[in-house]
Amino acid sequence: MIRKVTKAVFPVAGLGTRFLPATKSIPKEIMTLVDRPLIQYAIDEARAAGIEEFIFVTSRGKGALEDYFDHSHELENHLKKSGKDELLDLLRQTNMESGAIAYVRQHKAMGLGHAVWCARRLINDDEAFAVVLTDDVVMGDPPCLQQMIEAHAETGGSMVATMEVPQEKTKSYGILDVEEDMGAIVKVRGMVEKPKESPPSNLAVIGRYILAPTVLGNLNKLKQGAGGEIQLTDAIADEIEAGRDVFGLRFRGQRYDCGSKAGFLQATVAFGLEREELRDEFVEYLHDVLAMRKAAE
Ligand code: UTP
Repeated sequence: MIRKVTKAVFPVAGLGTRFLPATKSIPKEIMTLVDRPLIQYAIDEARAAGIEEFIFVTSRGKGALEDYFDHSHELENHLKKSGKDELLDLLRQTNMESGAIAYVRQHKAMGLGHAVWCARRLINDDEAFAVVLTDDVVMGDPPCLQQMIEAHAETGGSMVATMEVPQEKTKSYGILDVEEDMGAIVKVRGMVEKPKESPPSNLAVIGRYILAPTVLGNLNKLKQGAGGEIQLTDAIADEIEAGRDVFGLRFRGQRYDCGSKAGFLQATVAFGLEREELRDEFVEYLHDVLAMRKAAE
């Protein structure tokens, strides 16, 4: 019987240089899609998937992120007094239970693998755990992490979320070497982080993982990989070397790379169009902008 996954690690200690100057003072995870910070999308997805313990790997300058999870009694009282029940409800949905969140610090941005390793003392050696990158926002029903947890309950081992990318983009991702393609699930023979040439497939790893606790043991080596960083991909690939199973799940849904400016803008449009109260006005505006651009050409 495979034990239920109830812990998720959110590595949020990166420098976010692609969003400078904003990230000089705002953690990237607090940037908003419509009216919700990226971190809220990640938390909601994890909660929907049954996660009960949320472990944040933070760093200097991420105070706003920690504050975001505090209950705002003053604001709640104000909304209550002024009868703004809907807003009050919305605010309360963001409240986290005391003790559900733990913060650990990564003292230096040494890579995603290192960030996950920083959480090692909070994970038992007999439990698989999830890793969620808040940069990757996935619109999916059921949410991506839930799809993964359900699939993992069948397969065990470790699992990464994967999607097909055009050949020329493979150098920006961790890429899977596929041993057996079973449709939605693929069995992985190897993984390469950002292959400069000859990618083993066009299946890219995106920021959702269910990891066997042994991955943390692999990270103990603190081996530097691509870009001089301690790579999570390498530690997962070590699982295969050790004869343990790693799977990829072709999730159903649309992933937005909110760690990049283009991806963030695309997500803003997509999530804006999802909102009933904004949709008509927004569609009209987008039509007008496109028509004006066409006329100007
Ligand atoms: P990125 O590769 O997107 O790096 O990290 P970054 O520093 O956040 O952003 P850029 O490239 O400078 O713009 C992917 C995820 O891993 C976390 C990041 O916070 C992000 O969620 N991360 C990365 C860490 O927590 N620590 C690290 O040392 C590196």
